[in-house]
Amino acid sequence: MENLFTLDETINKENREQLINQKGCVIWLSGLSGAGKSTIAILTQKHLHNQGKLVYLLDGDNIRLGINSDLGFTINDRTENIRRVAHIAKLMADAGMIVLVSFITPTKKIREVASDIIGEDFHLVYMKASLKTCKKRDPKGLYKKVDKGEITLFTGITSPYEMPLHPTLILDSEQFSKEECSNQLTSYIMTIQRG
Ligand code: ADX
Repeated sequence: MENLFTLDETINKENREQLINQKGCVIWLSGLSGAGKSTIAILTQKHLHNQGKLVYLLDGDNIRLGINSDLGFTINDRTENIRRVAHIAKLMADAGMIVLVSFITPTKKIREVASDIIGEDFHLVYMKASLKTCKKRDPKGLYKKVDKGEITLFTGITSPYEMPLHPTLILDSEQFSKEECSNQLTSYIMTIQRG
């Protein structure tokens, strides 16, 4: 870090936001595997795009297949996974983008890592669904694999998931349909956009 200097740029976030008429922000969806994070993020991205907004989705599985393919599921690796994604999301929000982030982000401490990196543009959304429901849905067949002992350190079973106590928004995918959850999230983001 020694001998490194931050650039003093003449064009800033606000200038870019004015150009594209939107506010850069990071909407961080946390929840168990199978809670609906990716589904809601995909639907919301489409809604916002159709309303003329520049949106980008960073999804756990995709990022873990690329830049974070060297990481596993220990708490240390999950923390590093989130640290890197938080830095990427921060840069994209600074570029003026609405960034949807769907990662389990299992513990309070790991969510704090993301929140501290991103700062005031960080909005934590809790994608709520019970472990029982997620196991029943099992969209990727992973809970079945866990039962057979084929996956270790699985969130909610052999690795912790701490429910966020003070998220800015809760989307309950047991109580509401995916369209309803996505509408709730879209409205929330549009409120941020109006300032
Ligand atoms: S996080 O805990 O580090 O935030 P992340 O969201 O990136 O997790 O990755 C979770 C995705 O990885 C899940 O959606 C699932 O498809 C896959 N996965 C593979 N192994 C595990 C595991 N042991 N625990 C949780 N998810 C796993």
